[in-house]
Parts: sequence; C-alpha cells; structure tokens
Amino acid sequence: MKIIAIAMQKGGVGKSTLTRSLAVAAALEGHNVLVLDMDTQQSTNQWKGRREAPLPLVRFTTEIDLQGELDRARKAGCDLVLIDTPPARSTEAPAAVEFSDFVLVPCTADIEAFEQLPRTARLARTTGKPAAAVLTMATPNSRSELEVAHKVFETVGLEVAPQQLHRLKVHRDASRLGLSAQELEPTSKAAEEIKSLAVWVFERIGLISANVQNRTRARVHKKDAA
Ligand SMILES: Nc1ncnc2c1ncn2[C@@H]1O[C@H](COP(=O)(O)OP(=O)(O)OP(=O)(O)O)[C@@H](O)[C@H]1O
Ligand SMILES: [Mg+2]
Repeated sequence: MKIIAIAMQKGGVGKSTLTRSLAVAAALEGHNVLVLDMDTQQSTNQWKGRREAPLPLVRFTTEIDLQGELDRARKAGCDLVLIDTPPARSTEAPAAVEFSDFVLVPCTADIEAFEQLPRTARLARTTGKPAAAVLTMATPNSRSELEVAHKVFETVGLEVAPQQLHRLKVHRDASRLGLSAQELEPTSKAAEEIKSLAVWVFERIGLISANVQNRTRARVHKKDAA
C-alpha cells in the first residue's frame, strides 16, 4: 500500500482539489483508493457527501487515529491512500508526512505561496520523504510564470512534477457536484492534465496499474490451468 501526503502550509492552493482528482484517477484505473481528510474544515469529506458514486472512499481522521486508519486500510487490501491536510501550521500535516511514502506539494505561482514553500519543503526533508511540487491554478499560456515557479521549486529543493494544473473553471464546477474534472468533462484540458499528472505520480511511487496487475494475474492463472 502506497501513501501520499498532499501538503502545503498556504491555504487555497488546490490541495483538496488535487487530492480528489488523483483519487478519482486512481479509482478509474481500478485501484483500491482511500482518501483521508485530516482538515477540520472537512471540505473533502463534504465533497464526498455531494458525490453520488461510492468510490473513492473518504474518511475524516485526526492525527490520533491516523495509524489505526492506515492499518485498517492495509488489512482491507487498499493499494493507495491519499491524505489531504489542512493549511497553516498544524500537527496534522507533519503526521501525514511522517506516515507517507511521498509528499505532493501543490503551489500556486504567487509570492504568498512561494514564501510558505520552504517550510513545507523542510517538513518533507527532515522526515526524509521524497517530495515534489505541482504548479496549480497556473495561468494558461504563461511560459514565464511556469519558468519562475519551477525555478522557485528547484531552489527550495523540491522535485518538480512535469505536469502543471492550469486554472480552469471545470475544477470548480466539478467540485460543486462532488465530482472531479475528469468525470465532469472527460475530454477537457483539465482532465488531460490530471491524467498525465496521475500517470507521473503513480509511476513515481511505484504504484502498478491495477489493470496491469489483473492482466498479469489472469496470465498466471491461464498458465497454471494449462
Ligand atoms: N486548477 C484549478 N483551476 C481552477 N480552480 C481551482 C483549481 N484548483 C482548485 N481550484 C479551486 O480553488 C479553490 C481552492 O482549492 P482547494 O480547496 O483545493 O484548495 P486547498 O489548498 O485545499 O484549500 P485549504 O487550504 O483551504 O484547504 C476551490 O474553490 C477550488 O475549486
Ligand atoms: Mg483543502
């Protein structure tokens, strides 16, 4: 089971949207996904309340219950846990990072977010967890913005995700309906960006596609039966 913490001290940079988008992408790939919402605002838990589809599973948890939740998820055969964390200095984000295999740091291209970035990067570094920044809510067609952001990410010692998420209305529309952009408009630019980011993230953490696993299992069974 792989665990990804989505963390960034600055509020409103797209942590929850990224968490849900990746969770849906993983569920559509056939993975057994659990989202843990550690933010007392519970916006991801509320998103789940607006959602009609049963998957992905979303649970609110505190730092005290985190270990237990993860143990239960492992026993239940979960293969990916995404942990959405609160903004500001909290005890939840360090706990999530501590238990994770990988930290994703969504960041917008503005000075307020850049100023908060070193703290989050330090949190990942001190726990020895690999961490990558993802540029979120990027201005469409702004190469200079992308270059500046990537330079900042590298300066604070974060790996840079090759796919950024642009500021696109479909993310907000989807959220209102308890969906992800990939579900609301599967052929949209936003959906393409999420899919591409998800492929990179899942490969980066060594999460084998559930479809590939099933195909491999089927081949082994066929061989055994022969
Ligand atoms: N790529 C995007 N394009 C357009 N709107 C977006 C995008 N990503 C997120 N948003 C919107 O921006 C707002 C903030 O996003 P989100 O709630 O994901 O941020 P957050 O970092 O989790 O915030 P908080 O720190 O308060 O938990 C939401 O209204 C969301 O729908
Ligand atoms: Mg949030």
